[in-house]
Amino acid sequence: MDVNEAQNALLTLLGQVSSAALPKVIQWMKTSSEIEDLLTNNSDVLLHNIADDLRNCLPVEAMMISEKQVMEEIQSLQRPTLHVDAFLYDDDTIDSLCEEGKMSRNYCVSCGSTKTAPLDFLSHSFSIVELRFLFHHVLPDLSEKTVLDVGSRLGAVLYAGYIYSSASKLEGVEINAEFCELQEKIINKYHFSDRIQVHHSDICGQRSLLHRADVVVLNNVFQYFMNKEEQIKAWKFIYENMKKKGSLLVTVPSLKESLTKLQINLQLGQWVEEIELDTEVFLGAGTDQEALSDIHLYKVL
Ligand SMILES: C[S@@+](CC[C@H](N)C(=O)[O-])C[C@H]1O[C@@H](n2cnc3c(N)ncnc32)[C@H](O)[C@@H]1O
Repeated sequence: MDVNEAQNALLTLLGQVSSAALPKVIQWMKTSSEIEDLLTNNSDVLLHNIADDLRNCLPVEAMMISEKQVMEEIQSLQRPTLHVDAFLYDDDTIDSLCEEGKMSRNYCVSCGSTKTAPLDFLSHSFSIVELRFLFHHVLPDLSEKTVLDVGSRLGAVLYAGYIYSSASKLEGVEINAEFCELQEKIINKYHFSDRIQVHHSDICGQRSLLHRADVVVLNNVFQYFMNKEEQIKAWKFIYENMKKKGSLLVTVPSLKESLTKLQINLQLGQWVEEIELDTEVFLGAGTDQEALSDIHLYKVL
């Protein structure tokens, strides 16, 4: 049944419900966990298992000691900000950790008092909902295609691509050796090595990865991890090497926002064309619609 057929069938069914019961039925459809369970399948369960494994290997803040500089960068942000990895911690898990006193959504504005204000949360990974949106609603059929995740970190994009798409190859490039080791552990445990490969390297040393990719994912990859000059160099490298006509680029935030912040003047209009995304899809009760609209898709001209 396609969307139109399903809508018509539902309207016919709802037309038969008594007017007294109709508001209750619609409310049930909007909030019922039974309806939400229809969206959950084995693929989601597998990704949640991987997230469980990764949580057991990492501290709550999901950052490596080798990322001291990144932690300092986050601490120096204007508004008090906490790194909470969205692949590892969904809203329910955060609530449980807050109840156990292992995490807080607030900070104390005057020490010793009960006056608190909400912390800003920052994630270095896509959440499982965002990944489902990416592979089911943003990208086309990926059969015979190669996906490259620049800065693959925990490997979330690679595992989701393996599970949710038919991409023939999923390559990750990650500058941090410890995260590469962690990704290898998961790839081996779940037997993903037939389609996933991780390269421990700076993207600027991997021209050929960009040349052969059909889809390149750049999720806030450089901002907290490199100084301004290095970020400019990396963006120029991507611009010069991602030239395969028709290949796709997924970015968070938009290219315009990233490049304007760094005052880089690239000929965007001659390089890519943005493809409008429809974020009005129901992916679960707690879906962060704002996070979905941070995802941008471009086609290389
Ligand atoms: C925000 S995380 C992205 C995580 C992942 N792509 C996702 O969407 O879930 C950015 C990652 O990029 C890595 N990184 C930063 N600069 C890099 C570079 N020049 N080459 C390769 N990896 C880089 C960082 O170490 C970090 O793990």
